[in-house]
Amino acid sequence: MANVAVIGAQWGDEGKGKIVDWLAERADVVVRFQGGHNAGHTLVVGEKVYKLSLLPSGIVRGTPSVIGNGVVLDPWALKAEIEKLTAQGVAITPDTLMIADNCALILPFHRDLDSLREDASGAGKIGTTRRGIGPAYEDKVGRRAIRVCDLAHLDALDAQLDRLTAHHDALRAGFGEPPIDREALVEELRGIAAYVLQFAKPVWRDLNALRAAGKRILFEGAQGVLLDVDHGTYPFVTSSNTISGTAAGGSGLGPSAVGFVLGITKAYTTRVGSGPFPTELEDETGERLGQRGHEFGTVTGRKRRCGWFDAVLVRQSAAVGGITGIALTKIDVLDGFDEIRICTGYTLDGETLDYFPSHAADQAKVVPVYETMKGWHESTAGARSWADLPGQAIKYIRRIEELIRCPVALVSTSPEREDTILVRDPFAD
Ligand code: IMP
Repeated sequence: MANVAVIGAQWGDEGKGKIVDWLAERADVVVRFQGGHNAGHTLVVGEKVYKLSLLPSGIVRGTPSVIGNGVVLDPWALKAEIEKLTAQGVAITPDTLMIADNCALILPFHRDLDSLREDASGAGKIGTTRRGIGPAYEDKVGRRAIRVCDLAHLDALDAQLDRLTAHHDALRAGFGEPPIDREALVEELRGIAAYVLQFAKPVWRDLNALRAAGKRILFEGAQGVLLDVDHGTYPFVTSSNTISGTAAGGSGLGPSAVGFVLGITKAYTTRVGSGPFPTELEDETGERLGQRGHEFGTVTGRKRRCGWFDAVLVRQSAAVGGITGIALTKIDVLDGFDEIRICTGYTLDGETLDYFPSHAADQAKVVPVYETMKGWHESTAGARSWADLPGQAIKYIRRIEELIRCPVALVSTSPEREDTILVRDPFAD
């Protein structure tokens, strides 16, 4: 039986929340494996809208959910999000939520450092979510992190705190900030420890046992391949690997557990934050895409940059992300355009390129080569089968498949879960 990993094939915000929600109904467990509360996953269930940042999307419908070791966890954000969802009627208990006890924590000074750096960077800023994600991953890799399991040993933290404060106090001094107040930090951790620990365990054991029992595992990626710290538009990226390979390492399962990789992509392109974006439209068409697509960030409320579908980028994402099939979302946003353009290649200093180069200056300089297709004026909103789609919309989807060299498995035609066209069932593979 296949497990499924859902990853973003663009710069995040592709509509993963809805697709994960759609698949979660048939999964036995949903696992987040990277990122933190920088993610913004919106789920629409009937009249209710749920906005998740850290919790796996399965939690809303009661599917057991796991925060894997690859995630960086802000304990206070966790509590706030659980309280918000509980107030919306979602039951979250240690039976439905498990947190890897080897997750690295995001601490208050990580958040401060994220903002201090962004503010000091002027035009070179990355445009992070300012949630401390990058600084927390740096401490993890620097072997200074405080982890979930440390919350059960707060009296034995001295050596770790020495390493952590030596590093951060030097950085803070550079920004004119006072040193970390160790006692206050330990007190804050004492105040939240029991809350987090009720959910904590070595989740790799549970996941491996579920796998051995033939249960279906759904891996829920955050952000997108173009924000991957290796394969994305470096340095304008997030601090984790967002590709499907991380689903294994970030949850404690081997790579063969991953199964079908479903890449989510919008029928056009958006980006929040800074960095190269070859097909960006800073004109009326871009405005129109933003208006029709309600393109504002779930986490930060920032306006998203919009542009035409870039087949070169998604083809690259499909290759490095190991994508088996695509879920194409928000096709209805393109309803009513006379013409639709697709980027099929680039030119760089007069040379033709069929891939996105690695160097930031080249990424900023490439000029898209477009192919123009006739649009459609019928509505695709709410379509649930191919028969409901206008011929031109089907042609557009088929052309995308051809250009990205990857088949479409699902088409999403509204935020509503049931407004989905199933072409190939990822769990059946
Ligand atoms: P960070 O992850 O907060 O460090 O931000 C780094 C970059 O990733 C910025 O460009 C953010 O806008 C972007 N980013 C982080 N999380 C998301 C997400 O869930 N959706 C879209 N962009 C994101």
